[in-house]
Parts: sequence; C-alpha cells; structure tokens
Amino acid sequence: MSGASLAGRRLVVSAGPTFEDIDPVRFIGNRSSGKMGFAIAEAAARRGARVVLVAGPVALATPAGVERIDVRSARQMREAVIGALPADAYIGAAAVADYAPAQVAPGKIKKKDEQLTLELVRTPDILAEVAAHPQRPTLVVGFAAETHDVEFYARGKLEKKRVDLIAANRVGVAGSGFESDDNALTVYWRDGARALGPAPKTQLADELLDLILARWPA
Ligand code: C5P
Repeated sequence: MSGASLAGRRLVVSAGPTFEDIDPVRFIGNRSSGKMGFAIAEAAARRGARVVLVAGPVALATPAGVERIDVRSARQMREAVIGALPADAYIGAAAVADYAPAQVAPGKIKKKDEQLTLELVRTPDILAEVAAHPQRPTLVVGFAAETHDVEFYARGKLEKKRVDLIAANRVGVAGSGFESDDNALTVYWRDGARALGPAPKTQLADELLDLILARWPA
C-alpha cells in the first residue's frame, strides 16, 4: 500500500460537494461526503507530494501535511483551483453542482404561491477549464458518477473535457458510492481501462495514485 514516491510533485485535489445558495438559508447541494478526494490528498501527501486540497462543505479533518482551502460554491471552487495552478496533476474528485441559481435572493424567500420557479444557470466546468488552461497540469484526472452506460459516458468525458484519466464509480456494487467508506472504480484512459476495488476509499486512493504515476510521461 505504500506505493511509489511523489516527492517534488505538486498536486491539486478537489473534493466534496458544492453548495449553491438560493437565499440566506437555502441551497442546492448533493450527497458527496468528500471521502474519496480527502483519501487521495492524504495518500499523495504521505508519498511526499505537496498537496493543495480544495474542499467543498464537508465534515472531514484535514489530512496531515495537506494545504486545505475551504470553499462553498462551484464558482469559489473554480477560483481556488485555478489559483492553485501551476501543478503537476489535478484530480477533480469534487461533485460540482452543474447548475446554480441565477440570483441569490438577499432575504429569505417567503412561501406564497402554489408553485415557485427557480432560474438556474450552468456553473463553470472546472475540470474542462483546468485541462484547457495555459498552465495545464501534466496529468488531469476526473471522476464520473453515472448510473448507467458508465463506460460510454466516461469515455465521452475523456474526449470532451480533454482529460487523461476518468475514474468512474462502479454502480451496483454493495457499499460503494457517495457516503460510503468503500468504493469501486473503473479507471479509463485513451487506450485502456482498469477496475479497482471494491475496497476502502483509502486503499483505492493509493491504487489510483499508482495508476496515475504509471501514466506519468517520463
Ligand atoms: O460532466 P460531469 O459532471 O459528470 O463530470 C464529472 C467530473 O467533472 C468530475 O471530475 C467533476 O469534479 C468535474 N466537474 C467540474 N466542474 C463542473 C462539473 C463537473 O470540474 N461544473
């Protein structure tokens, strides 16, 4: 489980959900616990990497030796991630909200009519932006949480977002997923794939780092 060294490498990892505020007391969020991204940050720091962990709202302790930047919204996560470049690798493990309210109401929205329509707008795609950035890290790794046609969507993301690896959560595996301590991943790259787990997220983090190191250009 120790794995090859990452000494001298700088990694930026994003983890957790983002919360998109509707008004001062409500938000749109998702069920990401942040455990996978935190496990990756911890494993990378243990191997000697300098790690910046950009964390959405999660209830997790900062791993030893990791520089943590707490954010709330997708927009804030984008600022923190782009601000943390240059890096040798970016691992986008965060479950970034795809849409955010077009406006944040300054006061609490009161109930009135039977229906309420919220206007939502797309959030920035942080992963795609990092992959297209002038300071693009050598390796850009994304995650995919799909319920069906996992390989089809994962390979689509590789192409569309121009990333090097996509780690897709394998659905239908007992105990795997958002809030669990265990997970099962299939990692895809342009001309290959590897199934990892089911295993504790801490172990998967190390196996994923091994895969990343194996793909690192000499
Ligand atoms: O396209 P989809 O959201 O399924 O892709 C998931 C991957 O893209 C994850 O690595 C996630 O962190 C990243 N992502 C992002 N910014 C978004 C949406 C997703 O960086 N707005």
